[in-house]
Amino acid sequence: MASSKVGVLTLLLLCVLLVGSNYVESADAKICPQFCEPNIGYMTCPSTGHKKLYPKCINCCKAGKGCKLYRKNGSLRCTGT
Ligand SMILES: *[C@@H]1O[C@H](CO)[C@@H](O)[C@H](O)[C@H]1NC(C)=O
Repeated sequence: MASSKVGVLTLLLLCVLLVGSNYVESADAKICPQFCEPNIGYMTCPSTGHKKLYPKCINCCKAGKGCKLYRKNGSLRCTGT
């Protein structure tokens, strides 16, 4: 009886640790303002093979690492960090 209780507790602790480490990982991601950069024509990202992407709402913070935001007139707005 007592040993099964310890097992459950250990399992619970393991779960908390797993969830906790996931949480820390996601907390590591940037917290970005949710505004939409105006006049963005398209975006390219190294992770998508520099394909032209047309995100509905993007800004320089939300853009992934290495992603480039281009204005509608084709000039570079910024590169994601
Ligand atoms: C595009 O627009 C930006 C912002 O108005 C301007 O600074 C830039 O010179 C323009 N680029 C071209 C190629 O027209």
